[in-house]
Amino acid sequence: MELIALFLLVLSIAFTLYSLSYVSKTKPTKQKPELPPGSTGWPIIGETLEYIRLAKKNCIEKFIFDRQKKYSAKLFKTSYAGEKMVFFCSPEANRFMFANENKLIKAWWPRNISKIFKGSGKLSESKQKELASMRKNVSALFNQLNAMEKNVVIIDSLARNHLETHWIDCEEVAAHSLAKKYTLSISFRLMLNNVDSETVGELEKLFNCIMSGMFALPINIPGTKFNRAIKASKGIREKIEGIVRRRKIEILENNINESLDESKDLLSLLIMEKIKDNEEVIESEIADMILVYIVAAYDSTSTTITSIIKYLAELPQVYEEVHREQMEIANSRGHEEPLNLDDIKKMIYSWNVVSEVLRLQPTIAGPFREAITDFSFDGFLIPKGWKLHRAVHGTHKNAKYFPEPDKFDPSRFHGNKIVPYSYVPFGGGAHICPGREYARLQILVFIHYLVKTFRWEKVIPDEELIRDPILMPAKRLPIHLYPHQT
Ligand code: HEM
Repeated sequence: MELIALFLLVLSIAFTLYSLSYVSKTKPTKQKPELPPGSTGWPIIGETLEYIRLAKKNCIEKFIFDRQKKYSAKLFKTSYAGEKMVFFCSPEANRFMFANENKLIKAWWPRNISKIFKGSGKLSESKQKELASMRKNVSALFNQLNAMEKNVVIIDSLARNHLETHWIDCEEVAAHSLAKKYTLSISFRLMLNNVDSETVGELEKLFNCIMSGMFALPINIPGTKFNRAIKASKGIREKIEGIVRRRKIEILENNINESLDESKDLLSLLIMEKIKDNEEVIESEIADMILVYIVAAYDSTSTTITSIIKYLAELPQVYEEVHREQMEIANSRGHEEPLNLDDIKKMIYSWNVVSEVLRLQPTIAGPFREAITDFSFDGFLIPKGWKLHRAVHGTHKNAKYFPEPDKFDPSRFHGNKIVPYSYVPFGGGAHICPGREYARLQILVFIHYLVKTFRWEKVIPDEELIRDPILMPAKRLPIHLYPHQT
């Protein structure tokens, strides 16, 4: 018996020693993280068609939620627009992207867009420096308090003029077309000091061609949307170059400071900065940059205004509340007195309505980036060269962050209840939208005069918003106008 016990003891010691030596021999070396879960779909087309099909119906969230459920709530891989891509779709992922701009990731656009803006500062890599310097100027023009005080007066006058010309005395209008006209005329005034409605009208058609070609099939033969967009972009740049040339001469011939003070627009700021830095003023370069800014401002703002008009028609109680707030502001001022920044600050409920529109109907489904180097996020490897997409719907429409996410409820934005990084309509980090304050002024001033003057009804009650490829009402949102009795 003792012998057996001794034998078992020796055996167990031997086994333990063997196990220990085995573990130490096979101790795992640090493993490379895995790629994110997901499917890259069919060769070449990947999951692009599925995405486009749902985007057209304005149901991008379905594409995202299906995959979040199947793979991971924070990120998944797919293949889109011919690229291996990782969709980032949680507050943590948003925060990570904002913090790592130009460190782990850099701006990237699908090839279509790059081709349309070929040579443009926003999209050509060599011109990132100019873009950064332009951001500084744009911030000075749009976000600083004293500049905003001046801008609100300019926007006020343009908004009144626009309503007078295109809305008053009309029974029915196409709200989307007019919102575009309004935003384009403001961009031309604030960026180029151009108020010539003929030039704006002429260029409006070209801007619309650019927009519809941005996500079209990249077939560059006469007659295609893509080809028209490339030609339109060239046409606009040439027109803007002419304006740059004339302004440069004006500034050089006159006292520099006087010219700047007179026009107060983006173009003068850009030219002045080059002159002050003893740099050559290259007209085509400045025209490229201004084109990018006008495009960035155009659809984002006009579509937001259009969506607001749609919701105010559908939700009378929300309209009533906005109307009450705006009339209180209107009644506190003289009839012809323009709005000022204090009035804008009082538009708290109206801004909550705008925020809810931006949550539910973001014009841009999210920007793209490229991994500059291999890195890992949430334990998964993102290889260098892979593309990333910050999928806005992943948080904006998620019940975890916004209970009853499909319900239009401006009160969500009352107080400080929003989970950080779950609501990001203007992006964040190094590429945060430099036009956000400018957009806020344009939208709120317009809403003020619109609700002060009219109530309205949708002509097509069940007209929906679609993405073709950018967000828009299916039939340009015709509305019937009912002026208030004064
Ligand atoms: C409701 C209106 C607007 C919305 C929702 C919006 C949204 C955004 C978002 C999400 C980004 C970040 C893109 C990224 O991360 O790559 C962005 C960038 C940008 N926005 Fe806006 N925007 C609006 C209005 C404007 C206006 C009025 C301007 C005109 C000055 C403007 C100019 C730009 C530019 C130039 C960029 C690129 C910045 C960069 O890449 O550094 N946006 N916008």
